[in-house]
Amino acid sequence: MCGIVGATARREVTEILIEGLRRLEYRGYDSAGIAVIDSHGDLNCLKRLGKVAVLSDSQQQEGLSGQTGIAHTRWATHGQPSEENAHPHLSSDRIALVHNGIIENHEALREELSAKGYQFLSQTDTETIVHLIHAELASTKDLSAAVKAAVKKLEGAFGLAVIDKQQPDKIFCARSGSPLVIGLGIGENFIASDQLALRQVTDRFVYLDEGDFAEITPDSFSVWNRQGEPVSRETLHLTDKTSTVEKGQYRHFMLKEIYEQPSVIKEVLQGRIGKKKILEQVFGAEAKKILDTTRRIQIVACGTSYHAGMIAQYWLEGIAGVPCRVEVASEFRYRKFVVQKDTLLVTISQSGETADSLAALRLAKTLGYASTMTICNVAQSSLVRESDLALMTEAGPEIGVASTKAFTTQLVALLLLTVALGRRHGLSAEEEEKIVVGLNSLPELLEETLALDKAIYKMSEAFVEKNHALFLGRGVQWPVAMEGALKLKEISYIHAESYPAGELKHGPLALVDDDMPIVAVAPGDKLLEKLKSNLEEVQARGGQLFVFANKAAGFKSDKGVHVINVPDVPDVIAPIIYTIPLQLLSYHVAVLKGTDVDQPRNLAKSVTVE
Ligand code: M6R
Repeated sequence: MCGIVGATARREVTEILIEGLRRLEYRGYDSAGIAVIDSHGDLNCLKRLGKVAVLSDSQQQEGLSGQTGIAHTRWATHGQPSEENAHPHLSSDRIALVHNGIIENHEALREELSAKGYQFLSQTDTETIVHLIHAELASTKDLSAAVKAAVKKLEGAFGLAVIDKQQPDKIFCARSGSPLVIGLGIGENFIASDQLALRQVTDRFVYLDEGDFAEITPDSFSVWNRQGEPVSRETLHLTDKTSTVEKGQYRHFMLKEIYEQPSVIKEVLQGRIGKKKILEQVFGAEAKKILDTTRRIQIVACGTSYHAGMIAQYWLEGIAGVPCRVEVASEFRYRKFVVQKDTLLVTISQSGETADSLAALRLAKTLGYASTMTICNVAQSSLVRESDLALMTEAGPEIGVASTKAFTTQLVALLLLTVALGRRHGLSAEEEEKIVVGLNSLPELLEETLALDKAIYKMSEAFVEKNHALFLGRGVQWPVAMEGALKLKEISYIHAESYPAGELKHGPLALVDDDMPIVAVAPGDKLLEKLKSNLEEVQARGGQLFVFANKAAGFKSDKGVHVINVPDVPDVIAPIIYTIPLQLLSYHVAVLKGTDVDQPRNLAKSVTVE
């Protein structure tokens, strides 16, 4: 959540900081702020409630200037969104600090610091850190020593950056539980919580490890580990496409990302599958040994990534014959469970920084899992760096908070994993070929499915005035329905639930009346007849059906039944294809309702706090 950017240079940095915030805004967007040290050595700070654009407009008027500064875009945890609670926080008009994460012992620290005479202007946990550092400065005199001493007293998670007007060309940072990366320039250096923030100024990056501290000046950077020993961290030269964070011709990032799916998946498949086989090298050199000895899978993930895991469970057990359990990370990390021998722990994550998933991985490493693997979209993320194996989803940057292309590329990766394990558990060459043919047909079938957009827009009008919706599926399409319901609720704020359709009669049927839209995902698979019976139960109660089905499934539009025909697709890729109309449906409903599609209320793209 929240985004940090900092710069120290031989030129003005305010525009660099504001542009950095713009690029980070997808992480949090309730307020934003900037603090810079000007040419007279004064510390100036500007904070605004609302989006980065509001801060940027104020900056145009106020004209803050300076060559060293830090900035922040916030997603509120402690204290409501307001100017007072926005970062940077200042202490004694001397130091300024921005912070991502949560300080758990902030109340005790606040009491201690108040007793020493510090006045708190906000309700945030963050303000305790800046006063704590200031208090430490009294004895250490040096910012770096003060931050190191202060951090020892913090419990919780943080990525933080601090500036001190008495040491005007330095930024000091610390990472514990919240990512930070240094960006390297010539005569200028930067810090950010995500390299995306800095791609307009550099493509050379140094990722901090857990527990690291760092100091940057325009001409140098130094890193220390948790023990305070100087360490060297690798410099990466990033040449990938992650700098392309423009909406282009599209009205929203979400729509752009929905439409990117055919081309992204085409690229993802290149070099990963041949005409008949998957190319296992894609799992990396270490993979063979791990896959050879894997007998079970435990998947852990959150939100949309959890839904991808649920679909994979059907594939791993049904196609590969490998037992698989799936759990949301926030539950997994606090539950006692039995770890079975030869179990591969798989995390799935778009960002690779989701706090619960990362904590689950770290826990798993202490519990006797044979190995760990992550299916992830961000190559430099913590999950990738801390897992034994990483299978990259290669979706490119996903900016819309509602996950779309990250989900379908996760499914592609999970299907590759299914085949790789299936080979070791009796999947025949013919069965593998069928799956590969299905995968190869995806880009074209996705294009055909996107062509349903106009019809889906028309359908979406029926949802605008509704307060509730039910999404139904059976078998592997149940988690697809879950994902459809999540999309609708997160961007249109319509309460949506999903059920395996056979479960309706055990309770939710009581909700059905003529004001309840019911979306059914109904490909002509072996559960079709069962699903049809469930849908008849709905119709008999006056429910309005919105059905996505192939022609052969035999649904006809009629009074109370609205059918959109999806192309005929092989069963194995049907979850990927049937996701598309649900994404488009929620997108159009949200646009018609006038919500903030890319940055829905109360949410953030990357959930780096518990
Ligand atoms: O980055 P991750 O995939 O780990 O994120 C997990 C969830 O926070 C995420 O999928 C969330 O549910 C999306 N906003 C859903 O669209």
